[in-house]
Amino acid sequence: MNTSAVKASLEPIVVGLIFGGNSGEHAISIRSACTVKQGLSEGLNPARYQLRCFYIDQQGRWWGESVAKAVLESKQPADTTKLAGINTREGFQGFPEGALEVDCWFPMLHGPNGEDGTIQGLFSLMQVPFVGSGVLGSAVGMDKLAMKAAFAAAGLPQGPYQAVAAAELAQKEQLLSRLEQALGYPCFIKPANLGSSVGISKANNREELWAGLELAANYDQRIVVEQGLKVRELECAVLGREQLQASVVGEICFDADWYDYDTKYSEGHSQPIIPAQVPEQVAAQAQKLAISALQAVGASGLSRVDLFYEETTERLLINEINTLPGFTHLSMYPMLWFASGIPLPDLVHKLLELAR
Ligand SMILES: Nc1ncnc2c1ncn2[C@@H]1O[C@H](COP(=O)(O)OP(=O)(O)O)[C@@H](O)[C@H]1O
Ligand SMILES: [Mg+2]
Repeated sequence: MNTSAVKASLEPIVVGLIFGGNSGEHAISIRSACTVKQGLSEGLNPARYQLRCFYIDQQGRWWGESVAKAVLESKQPADTTKLAGINTREGFQGFPEGALEVDCWFPMLHGPNGEDGTIQGLFSLMQVPFVGSGVLGSAVGMDKLAMKAAFAAAGLPQGPYQAVAAAELAQKEQLLSRLEQALGYPCFIKPANLGSSVGISKANNREELWAGLELAANYDQRIVVEQGLKVRELECAVLGREQLQASVVGEICFDADWYDYDTKYSEGHSQPIIPAQVPEQVAAQAQKLAISALQAVGASGLSRVDLFYEETTERLLINEINTLPGFTHLSMYPMLWFASGIPLPDLVHKLLELAR
């Protein structure tokens, strides 16, 4: 190696941690980014990586180091309308200072405009590596109808469901009869492109089904209606690119009828059990299905796969894949890896190595 190559290999890699975002999961994203930042500050990571933070405000504008650091410190969304020189137009307005020197991006964005392939497309165009799935895996994983079609094509087990286009609400009686005949009650109505249980409802009768469809149609043209199952909820973390590795399996227990937004985000209403108290062969099957789920949608890097376990039949079904799962210190993804022998600093290092 010549001297400049030696120097280059010793220089820390500039990591662009980008978080916030124009989605309902803005606040969670800030907390996820805090965890990644912490992981990069521990062990050998400070020598390996030079962290640069970027914040996307709720209007989709990008901000550099000073705003991003303040947001991470306060753990609160920034009121960027008060900042000097603000461009009032919404959406991406160009790169803040420091963005073009990033060697590897670490997006910690959940939901639309971050987990769905949009920012992955931008990084691909820039020809800069990034943590997590590419455009295809992100986009397919985000859209519940595309995801279910990919799972079905791969022969993966899932519960009965029907696809609904919002335009079909114009034929009310016809639509309700079709859904009742195919699925019965209870059923779950979901907008295809959100997360955190936003816009999702459970229906026990015709009136509730109609209200659920109207609610979902406010969020998305694409709607999925699923048969309501009596199940336990298991989660498995996956890591890797060509070689995928599954974590121990965890279970989410909660004191509510289903895992809705309030139960997810108000403290004390849900509890992770790691490892899940299920028969060994069920956990092993869940791990296999989790890996198959990533392959089915073309996801890589990291994902959390959520499964339904029907205890009476010992049947496992895939509920969904999250290609940029919650990463707060109380989130399943880092906790499952911790329980599998990969502590946080090693986890973020592995994710960056996979990206590069
Ligand atoms: N078919 C179903 N049967 C029973 N419960 C369901 C079903 N679909 C969703 N749920 C409940 O709703 C929650 C949120 O649904 P999910 O599809 O995971 O949406 P999100 O992407 O917003 O997390 C699940 O964790 C579960 O508690
Ligand atoms: Mg879910």
